Amino acid sequence: MKRIIIQYGGTGDLALKKLYPAYQNLMEKQYSFSVLALGRRYTTREEFLLNSVSPSAPASFTDNLDYLYYDMADTDAVSILTKKLRSMIEGSDEVEFIYYLALQPSLYEDAIHQIKAIDASLDCLCTLTKKIVVEKPFGFDLESALRYNEILEKAFTDKEIFRVDHYLGKEFMQNLLLMRFHNDIIRRIWDNRTIESIQIIFDETHGVDQRLGFYEKIGVVRDTIQNHIMQIVTYLTMSEPASLSPEDISVEKEKVLRSISPVREFHMGRYESLGVNSGHVVQTPTYAALKLFVNTYYFADIPIYVRTGKMQKEAKSLIYIKFKNTTKEVMHDQSIAENGVIITIHPELTIDISMNLKMPNTSWKSKPVRFRFNQSETFGANTPEAYEQIVQKILIADKSLFPTMKEITESWRIVEPMLESDLVGEVYPIRTLPRFASQLAKDNHFTWFDETQIAKP
Ligand code: BG6
Repeated sequence: MKRIIIQYGGTGDLALKKLYPAYQNLMEKQYSFSVLALGRRYTTREEFLLNSVSPSAPASFTDNLDYLYYDMADTDAVSILTKKLRSMIEGSDEVEFIYYLALQPSLYEDAIHQIKAIDASLDCLCTLTKKIVVEKPFGFDLESALRYNEILEKAFTDKEIFRVDHYLGKEFMQNLLLMRFHNDIIRRIWDNRTIESIQIIFDETHGVDQRLGFYEKIGVVRDTIQNHIMQIVTYLTMSEPASLSPEDISVEKEKVLRSISPVREFHMGRYESLGVNSGHVVQTPTYAALKLFVNTYYFADIPIYVRTGKMQKEAKSLIYIKFKNTTKEVMHDQSIAENGVIITIHPELTIDISMNLKMPNTSWKSKPVRFRFNQSETFGANTPEAYEQIVQKILIADKSLFPTMKEITESWRIVEPMLESDLVGEVYPIRTLPRFASQLAKDNHFTWFDETQIAKP
């Protein structure tokens, strides 16, 4: 079968940084497909290759990477692309087109209409199958997401649609489910009888950089909260699915999302201007801190605190599950430290469980210690990148790592108040935690997790 990924946004940041490396790795692993990159930045394939692909990239990849100057606004756009595709599939009996939309959400509608027109005018004598892949954020808000979806579902069947959230391709996410459901000791303590609170911290050191044009229309809520963070929340709090099939998992995820009320307690802000000459004055929120609850029987009353955003001092991605600490009351010893599970995603994947153990040569003095799992030490460092897993699943038509439209709809509903509020908020100096994040902690009587809080392993 001749399989072609038609890459919309083919010279964009996502394609260059994440998708092409994933395509290259998969081609090296003998997955058979070619890529047609669409873009406006370069006129010829030579120019595109020169500027977009490392000179050391193997021929197994570059031989299968083509480029077409493509302006969606051009009146001839459809016929130009149809002609190119016709030439690429000439002589093939069986063809699959994978339309990959790595575009601003506002361009989805046009792109889907064009794809329908291409389909209609292709006149292929071959057996033609198709898939469509849409990147997050799916839509701009609840209303536009529903509208895009209507158009999408008119042109494609559910089996053919892949809505991407690359966090589902991450090893730590899949590990969360296994850790929770394949260990009786964890399963038994993972609810509101034992857990006091959950923190999700995703601090990034970089700014919006070359993505300013894209990010400016998006902001932190659409960029990471409506999708990545909501997906993490579902993996942390869903009930055990009947099986690990995509359908059974999404039934449980949808239940979680439906139980979450629209976020009411939140703050947002943007980092200070880096100067007019930097081309870098962001006019949209780049950091947010919020609190939400999952109102299911087992998780009601556990506050989930989230903070995430750009231009922080330290890249820190972690989930901290803090357990209740009734022991210190029972033992009349306020110095007994809390127990917790710390899942660190960045800089490397580790899972720590903290416990109190006796300090030698003391009379009943305890000290918190950590038991650590380090993924690369245990299993080696070569886990595939999230996008490689995502693309591989698309190629083999396995929908297990893709959020459903119901999940996406519920997630938009949850963040809607954040989208409606003042769009810019507080301006924070770069490399500092915005004041509003500390304020959220103060208002709720907790402290954001930091390494010094619980003894290092
Ligand atoms: C992307 C966002 O989806 O996720 C980026 O658009 C963010 O702004 C990125 O930096 C984080 O993903 P990762 O894989 O680097 O954790």
